[in-house]
Amino acid sequence: MTVSDDGTTTRAGEERWIAACAAADVEDDFGTRVEVDGGQAIAVFRVDGAYHATDDRCTHGEASLCEGLVDGNVVECPFHAGTFDIVTGKALTFPCVVNLATYPVRVEDGTIMVRVDAPTTIPTLLDRSEPA
Ligand code: FES
Repeated sequence: MTVSDDGTTTRAGEERWIAACAAADVEDDFGTRVEVDGGQAIAVFRVDGAYHATDDRCTHGEASLCEGLVDGNVVECPFHAGTFDIVTGKALTFPCVVNLATYPVRVEDGTIMVRVDAPTTIPTLLDRSEPA
């Protein structure tokens, strides 16, 4: 059994969903920054009525993607204008070349629930490591 900073407990093999924010707090064309699990910053977006969560920190630098411009499923970093696909985490334009982690999201009684223990990062062209 694991006890998290927020006091939730999980057994091995259990999914760990964390309440991130109210669905009503997430607007189209804006990211909502949420700190979960002891300070990990994630960005929650709504695209075409569906909610998505990614790491908030740009993979190119220390920028918060929640401060970037959102156009449909694309977020533009506020520092150097690199872009990412919010749904897949794919880095779309230079200088961003490393993809973002995305997280499973569900809505439960108006609350955005995120599995921060289950990130997905699609391989990048620069990633020469073997898949786990
Ligand atoms: Fe995001 Fe440079 S910090 S593009």
